[in-house]
Amino acid sequence: MSAVKPKPWLNHLRGRDLLSLGDVSPEEVEGLLDLAEGLKNGAAKGGTSAPLAGKILAMIFDKPSTRTRVSFEAGMSQLGGHALSLNRNELQLGRGETLADTARTLSRYVDGILIRTHSHATVVELARYATVPVINGLTDRFHPCQALADLLTLREKKGRLAGLRVAYVGDGNNVLHSLLYAAAVTGMHLMVATPPGYEPDPEVVAEAESMARSTGAELRFFHDPEAAVRGADAVYTDVWASMGQEEEKERRIRDFQGFQVDSKLMSCAKGDALFLHCLPAYRGLEVSEAVIDGPRSVVFDQAENRLHAQKALLWTLLG
Ligand code: CP
Ligand code: NVA
Repeated sequence: MSAVKPKPWLNHLRGRDLLSLGDVSPEEVEGLLDLAEGLKNGAAKGGTSAPLAGKILAMIFDKPSTRTRVSFEAGMSQLGGHALSLNRNELQLGRGETLADTARTLSRYVDGILIRTHSHATVVELARYATVPVINGLTDRFHPCQALADLLTLREKKGRLAGLRVAYVGDGNNVLHSLLYAAAVTGMHLMVATPPGYEPDPEVVAEAESMARSTGAELRFFHDPEAAVRGADAVYTDVWASMGQEEEKERRIRDFQGFQVDSKLMSCAKGDALFLHCLPAYRGLEVSEAVIDGPRSVVFDQAENRLHAQKALLWTLLG
């Protein structure tokens, strides 16, 4: 075993679900990031251990995925375990078997279940009936694994999270919802600019604001991208039309005019501001090619950090 291992206060996360970052305390988030950093550095030095030897993760995908699928599968293998990638149509779930029966059956075979699906209620129901940990690999409402990787990236590049000023420009979607919790739980300031009508869910905002009270995170909301980006240490955007919103794409392209993160908008941020995007990205829509492929972009570090952050999560929940 390498010296890298979960801090003792992460022990009580063992066996728990990760449905939203709203479920995780500031100490737990810090512990997960420390473990992820240790795993990343340990891997770079060739150090390996197999804390999940013999463990199996079932992964159910109701939507496409590159990063989530491959990073979870690679992460399980690197920790000595194994992952099974399943899609609904290959399961009896696709023929009408209930989610509850699927959850109870899978729990007899595997040690954890990852699910990417449409409605957040589906993940909540799966978790209710599963007797093994359930991890949310993205719903229409949240993307907590992405937010953990975003925190890891920002901490690695800027040396801290508390007090950092991050701007999010774009749609008030799942990625923003999880970023709001991530900021609230770490004391990071998040300045959000969305077009009118595309604001984040008020319930999520209220919960994030209540979490922010104890960490000092400032959460502010604008309709003017420049106002949000002014003085930012990092600028984050995501697609204008998420998975499942393909039919709204043309209308959204019209409604999001002026919200592209381009060099002019980046010039409102600090001189050393980073550019983040969860990917996949659409150059020429939410971000210009010059920005995403430019020197301030850390999008592939962010993608890599999915692997390290999720390995820390898997070890903690399933170990
Ligand atoms: N960022 C992210 O979740 O990517 P995938 O859709 O490729 O998994
Ligand atoms: N908001 C995007 C994120 C993709 C990782 C979507 O839900 O499609």
